[in-house]
Amino acid sequence: MKKSRITGIGHYVPENVVTNADLEKIMDTTNDWIVERTGIEARRWFNPDKDTVSNMATRATKMAADRAGIEIKDIEFIVFATITPDYFFPGSGVLLQRELGLQGIGALDIRNACSGFIYALSVADQFIKTGMYKTVLVVGAEIQSSALDKSTEGRSSSVIFADGAGAAILQATDEDRGVLSTHLHADGDYAEELYVHDPGSSRKTRLSKDMLDGKTFNLTMNGNTVFKHAVVRFSEVINEALQENGHVTEDIDLLIPHQANLRISNFVQRQFKLPDDKVFNNIMHYGNTTAASIPIAMSEAWEKGKIKEGDLICLAAFGSGFTWASSLIRW
Ligand code: UT7
Repeated sequence: MKKSRITGIGHYVPENVVTNADLEKIMDTTNDWIVERTGIEARRWFNPDKDTVSNMATRATKMAADRAGIEIKDIEFIVFATITPDYFFPGSGVLLQRELGLQGIGALDIRNACSGFIYALSVADQFIKTGMYKTVLVVGAEIQSSALDKSTEGRSSSVIFADGAGAAILQATDEDRGVLSTHLHADGDYAEELYVHDPGSSRKTRLSKDMLDGKTFNLTMNGNTVFKHAVVRFSEVINEALQENGHVTEDIDLLIPHQANLRISNFVQRQFKLPDDKVFNNIMHYGNTTAASIPIAMSEAWEKGKIKEGDLICLAAFGSGFTWASSLIRW
């Protein structure tokens, strides 16, 4: 059976840098609180005149395709992970397809929040293993900043979430490397612990004054509950990936966790006794970009020479749903 390999990885983040000092001006918060509780020093928030989820994804895709040494027209299928699509429907996959000039090829949207990129990677991997496609574009892109309550009331979430895009070109190979396995989980009992309630379909009207007054269109998170589950599930799903492939912690060359909170990444690092140079974090600069965080981190890690041919890379994520996932990749 074929395996799938990531042959190119790229990213794009909006130019607009929002520092903790900028947030101090619009809500009751401090740089010290944000750095101590989250590790975040700055994040990117989109420019509504310039950035959309799909055009950020297009820029990330072009970088990934360049690095893979392929032409855009070689892409046969798109898997687009986002919970912040440009429209309520259709999904952003078709918008990206249009921007890339790939009219006609299939485009699938994935809505699994922070685990979305690994879910998308898994779907693309299955298509390649079965021989249906040879070159698949896998994207994670989000604009979270427009759903944040930027008043003091919403500060525990609004200091964390941010915008950006990452893309990977996944290609079929006969070599014994690439995506070794993916592991996907969910528990809908916790759906309302991290969610955006409106606009939803199961209401008399999609938009109402009550929704605007109640700010139910803003992202709502019970941070403590999410944190407690995250640290457990991250560890479980990394262990699952190692066991499935007969590997031990010491075999990991680089762990790229979803950039949820630096404290979560540090906790996982301590649990697995991984040295600093085996865990990649860039949440300091970009905040938590949900489905985009892993491909952005992977792209930067690759640029910095931290991902080399033959390395064993572990991806892991946890987020809204709850959903959690991991993947082991032999680069
Ligand atoms: O990516 C998807 C998954 N998401 C996550 O993994 C996020 C997981 N959760 C977290 O990262 C953390 O729970 C947060 C960073 C969201 C919050 O940190 P925390 O240590 O859990 O703080 P807390 O919510 O328990 O709040 C502690 C205190 C409260 O004040 P009192 O009640 O102790 O007086 C908050 O009002 O900190 C206050 N607080 C803030 N103070 C200054 C909350 N947000 C802020 C803020 N600035 N931005």
